[in-house]
Amino acid sequence: MKRRILVTSALPYANGSIHLGHLVEYIQTDIWVRHQKMLGSEVHYVCADDTHGTPVMLRAEQEGISPEDLINRVHREHAADFDSFHVSFDNYYSTNSEENRSFCEEIYSNLLKSNLIDQREIEQFYDPAKKMFLPDRYIKGTCPKCGAKDQYGDSCEACGATYSPTELVDPYSSVSGSKPERKKSTHYFFKLSDPRCESFLRKFTQQTDCLQSEAANKMKEWIGAEGASKLSDWDISRDAPYFGFPIPGTNDEKFFYVWLDAPVGYFGSFLNYVTKKFKTDAPQLIQEFLREKTNTELVHFIGKDILYFHALFWPAMLEFSGYRTPSKVFAHGFLTVNGQKMSKSRGTFITAKSFIDNRLNPEWLRYYYAAKLNSSMEDIDLNLEDFVSRVNSDLIGKYVNIASRTAGFIAKYFDGRLSDRSFEENEILREFISKSPQISKNFEEREFGKAIREIMALADKANVYVDGEKPWELAKDETARLKLHEVCSISINLFKLLSVYLKPVLPSLVREVEKFLNIDNLSWIDSQKLIAPGHQVNKYQHLMTRVDQKHIDQLISANTASLEQKPNAPDSKKEEKKMSGGQEKVNSDEDEPKIDTISIDEFSKIDLRVALVKNAEHVEGADKLIKLVLQVGDEERQVFAGIKSAYAPEDLEGKLVVVVANLKPRKMRFGESQGMVLAASGDDSGIFIVSPDVGATHGMKVR
Ligand code: MSP
Ligand code: ZN
Repeated sequence: MKRRILVTSALPYANGSIHLGHLVEYIQTDIWVRHQKMLGSEVHYVCADDTHGTPVMLRAEQEGISPEDLINRVHREHAADFDSFHVSFDNYYSTNSEENRSFCEEIYSNLLKSNLIDQREIEQFYDPAKKMFLPDRYIKGTCPKCGAKDQYGDSCEACGATYSPTELVDPYSSVSGSKPERKKSTHYFFKLSDPRCESFLRKFTQQTDCLQSEAANKMKEWIGAEGASKLSDWDISRDAPYFGFPIPGTNDEKFFYVWLDAPVGYFGSFLNYVTKKFKTDAPQLIQEFLREKTNTELVHFIGKDILYFHALFWPAMLEFSGYRTPSKVFAHGFLTVNGQKMSKSRGTFITAKSFIDNRLNPEWLRYYYAAKLNSSMEDIDLNLEDFVSRVNSDLIGKYVNIASRTAGFIAKYFDGRLSDRSFEENEILREFISKSPQISKNFEEREFGKAIREIMALADKANVYVDGEKPWELAKDETARLKLHEVCSISINLFKLLSVYLKPVLPSLVREVEKFLNIDNLSWIDSQKLIAPGHQVNKYQHLMTRVDQKHIDQLISANTASLEQKPNAPDSKKEEKKMSGGQEKVNSDEDEPKIDTISIDEFSKIDLRVALVKNAEHVEGADKLIKLVLQVGDEERQVFAGIKSAYAPEDLEGKLVVVVANLKPRKMRFGESQGMVLAASGDDSGIFIVSPDVGATHGMKVR
């Protein structure tokens, strides 16, 4: 029977940029989803921005815009980031939506009816100047143990002591600077300590196939021993002012805490999606995926820091409000870069956007993460040196190499047609085909590293085959045409099978492979089949460039922040997670600097280089362009420059120019333009190329 799966990734906060740490999760989920779709499963992959809460509210205020404007802007940024890394959500929505509001209200009202909501008065810090209650993270003061100033309310960075915010000496609000008061207020609690919840959660978390075993053990610890439950009621309300959904019946004075509406946002996004896409079938799909669980699965991918919410609060909310519970909660570890936590000062707090803007290929990262990922909650390390050598040796040296060493002969001697012979009996091809179930199983079990090892072992075999048959020598011998044809056809078949296996990881590259192979949309079944004898393939074009240490250096320098501290910007994430019992430490380094004017650091992101025009020629069919081949150090680049009105190609050859070397390459009708040549122009029609003074040589940096 066909599997029917609703898959989610955690909803990223709407107050920061997507970075390489986030991408561990979205790439992991995307690979899993793509593999499932290739198998023919019915998969719906949804996500959204997590838009509510104090940090978003305060950040919008700081920027002088409304929270709605802020989350709309961030939504566009996030969607573009995910798109550039080929993360293929079926729907990317927002928690600030009517769909989400109605689910939240319904779930809440059902919990009320089940008698699982309690009201209680609690005392909290209050900022009298801002007229708002303060989450603990917004309280700072002097450490009660060592006297260090400006420490957060939970721990001292100077001496490492931990304490509660009430123990701080001279506490102050980091929002307004004023002295916080203690103030009482009524809060709403979800009664997690209720015996019904307790017994449900014990069962739910120990089901063998829902949580990873490490996660199940952790839950056991968190829930506590039978008869000595550690579950305490969960505060699901916040006082106004708050950016979120008002709790019905509270006169807009109380709001749902962001962590209540965030996971419900998975459902909101799904509802929005099925309503748009399946119209009249939507109610049925909602019923089957969100209410019943007999023939559908609900699979959540999350980081280990938010396990608490997904393995306890969320399933309990669902269970007692009449919804289905998750089938799987898959938690992954945290990203480190070169063995350390991502850090702005080291330049390893790398945003998704900067990765793309610095001309790194997103599929290099997808491949590297895949090679490193497994089904455990261990952290994964992006070692930048290893990244360069791994991508180059595996992707370029092993995989792409097979096609680039044989495709040319098929075009040159055989008009692009593969041999008419059937290779069904060929031993290596049979071996390649026989690995299909194992590789599929690895993807299914999130053992991507194992899958990659299997695939690369096959790629090695393919190369040994090509090395042994030496098509480049066969090609010199006219009497060996038949053999050459067979060898190249077998190689192209091997390459095709590898491409099927790598497609979940490298969707864009494999799309180019499909064009070359002249095959539509490879699916997993194609790993059981050979290409039809006599099949016509298309012209082979180079598939992927090598990654260079220079790329990495640029990326790091583009992400190296000045050491300037931004005032009044507590770590939003820590605050939200701490407030609600999230147990793991999270990166404390995560709020983004605000961008006003450009700084010297930003200017230095533009990689200007002296380049030598090696070759210049007209471009057929273009009335403004000249095609330049530039030498930049030891690299050659092709650039299309709109300077035909002012220069003849022969005047340009041998000239030194300045080129923007890290401009995103642009596909044009005539080919790819890999940079931009600087030229001056005024209101008149003249164009004047900018040239460095005598003495400069190509490759030099312009700064
Ligand atoms: N908004 C919450 C999730 C709500 S889900 C109903 C949140 N947002 S987040 O932006 O902080 O993180 C989104 C996802 O990215 C989380 O699963 C988190 O674990 C993951 N990661 C964030 N930083 C990460 C690393 N440095 N490394 C690996 N995953 C990381 O949590
Ligand atoms: Zn201290």
